[in-house]
Amino acid sequence: MGGGSAVKWLAFWWLGVCSSSRFVYGGNFYEDFEISWGGDRAKIFNSGALLSLSLDNLSGSGFHSKKTYLFGRIDMQLKLVAGNSAGTVTAYYLSSEGPRHDEIDFEFLGNLSGDPYIVHTNVFTQGKGNREQQFYLWFDPTKNFHTYSIIWNPQQIVLLVDNYPIREFRNTEAMGVPFPNTQPMRIYSSLWNADDWATRGGLIKTDWTHSPFTAYYRNFNFNTITNPADYSSKSSSAASPHTTYQLDAFGRRRLRWVQKYFMIYNYCTDLKRFPQGLPPECNHHHY
Ligand SMILES: *[C@@H]1O[C@H](CO)[C@@H](O)[C@H](O)[C@H]1NC(C)=O
Ligand SMILES: *[C@@H]1O[C@H](CO)[C@@H](O)[C@H](O)[C@H]1NC(C)=O
Repeated sequence: MGGGSAVKWLAFWWLGVCSSSRFVYGGNFYEDFEISWGGDRAKIFNSGALLSLSLDNLSGSGFHSKKTYLFGRIDMQLKLVAGNSAGTVTAYYLSSEGPRHDEIDFEFLGNLSGDPYIVHTNVFTQGKGNREQQFYLWFDPTKNFHTYSIIWNPQQIVLLVDNYPIREFRNTEAMGVPFPNTQPMRIYSSLWNADDWATRGGLIKTDWTHSPFTAYYRNFNFNTITNPADYSSKSSSAASPHTTYQLDAFGRRRLRWVQKYFMIYNYCTDLKRFPQGLPPECNHHHY
């Protein structure tokens, strides 16, 4: 048996490892990402398995993916700034480049010790955003790592927290709303000071005596399977990647639970902000 078959065997073994552990495979930060700013405030540890960003009174820090992506499921585990994180913002998002860029955002707005973080989300298409939804979380995001995911396919975008869908943005191009489906996006994350708006609308300022502020990242995973139904806890097979492209009843129930109990702002119900009428995609939202 020659070297060729050993290589083949290795390839099979690797396929097996990847497909049987798609939730726990942790990408390598050295391979998949680069530090964009902040110098040694951004650090990669454990042979590439762990990354940290920090913020002090001189600078924040950030990183981005080396590759761009067009559709897929992207998972990252984050442990947010603990203790008094008021005034700090940890952003985790996908973005294309240029003036008509597309963007899908998670932003974690810090708070005083014991007070809840806000998860601020937005979707930009062709350079236009103004689609904010905000949530509290059902756990303390600073105690442990939790998984924050974006499923992005031609039919919809779904944001998930620990596999609970929290937000859905459907393709409503038929109603004239642009949908991100042509511009590849990079993954970005940064930790910075935004105490002019982040905590209680800017009332609470960053307390620099607690700096440096640090957030941790691990287990990055990219998967081309973009059907949310394939990730329901009850589904076992990785087959049928291109069937329905929708949340199934189970995912939809979870989405309703999150939106009922944890959503604190929804642009789609903000009639004061849109006196001329809500944005067209809002009529199409299913809660
Ligand atoms: C920043 O923090 C360091 C360490 O706490 C302190 O020595 C320094 O004076 C601070 N600089 C500014 C510009 O506040
Ligand atoms: C911080 O805590 C206060 C008090 O519970 C809350 O009103 C606010 O929404 C929390 N989050 C942020 C980011 O301000």
